[in-house]
Amino acid sequence: MTALAVSALALSACGASSDSAGGSEDGITMGFAQVGAESGWRTANTKSVQDAAEAAGVDLKFTDAQQKQENQIKAIRSYIQQKVDVIAFSPVVESGWDTVLKEAKDANIPVILTDRAVDSADTTLYATFLGSDFVEEGKKAGEWLVEDSAAVDGPVNIVELQGTTGAAPALDRKEGFEKAIAANPNLQIVQSQTGDFTRSGGKQVMEAFLKNTPDIDVVYAHNDDMGLGAIEAIEAAGKVPGKDIKIITVDAVKDGMTALSEGKINYIVECNPLLGEQLMDLAAKVVAGEEVPERVVTEETAFTQEQAKEALPNRKY
Ligand code: AHR
Repeated sequence: MTALAVSALALSACGASSDSAGGSEDGITMGFAQVGAESGWRTANTKSVQDAAEAAGVDLKFTDAQQKQENQIKAIRSYIQQKVDVIAFSPVVESGWDTVLKEAKDANIPVILTDRAVDSADTTLYATFLGSDFVEEGKKAGEWLVEDSAAVDGPVNIVELQGTTGAAPALDRKEGFEKAIAANPNLQIVQSQTGDFTRSGGKQVMEAFLKNTPDIDVVYAHNDDMGLGAIEAIEAAGKVPGKDIKIITVDAVKDGMTALSEGKINYIVECNPLLGEQLMDLAAKVVAGEEVPERVVTEETAFTQEQAKEALPNRKY
């Protein structure tokens, strides 16, 4: 925990968090409504939040919404009833949050968005948004493909495994990728469907693509897990992932990086799940009534196969 967080926590414990509706005498109480446990990324994110809460002395009330918006809304309402000091959540989809966010605001409980955004026009409904720039991630994926296919004369047929329909990372990674390849008409997305950010979803959709789409050159998967599912489908169809069909994914979790280092994936754009410590720092400031930036963007990189081999031994997730 940073010195700033320590002092902000101390302030809040002394009662400086007058805007907050309640909380414990010992420190901050945070209600956290997680999306679910759909991917390796999500598991790492949950652990990061739980570990950071413990280290910061934050009393964390945690809910797994099983990728259902109604479960997240229920959890948020229950946190409002419990008068927690701050609510944090990673919205499963972008829209449909205004009513419950307004309820939190009316109860004077600040809300922090982590990982994923909402599309609410009223940005006063939340204190800050901590997470990745998903459009930029999609752009990096597309730019790599443009460079990699520079010498290819004919068509490059891309199939896209989208994340959860309506989720910010699915919408934004699609947008960024499409923008990056737009000036190259030989790069065409010939099929695009959701695999819901899960390995089984990626496998199932890829099996269907392989049956109904001839000449697939590239898979663009919105996360590692769907890419790993696609690898299983490609191998079962007697093709070689990474060679017969190139694969680009987003996340860079250990399983994805292992497949990249083995040549089964060609490129991974990083999406950092380790948001816990920054979240606890922001929560401490928000509860203490301090100013926080409206947007905190996570720093990220991308990996080639060679870079994955180097990075893997020290990979934390
Ligand atoms: O919102 C982040 C995305 O959600 C990750 O890329 C994906 O793996 C997860 O399920």
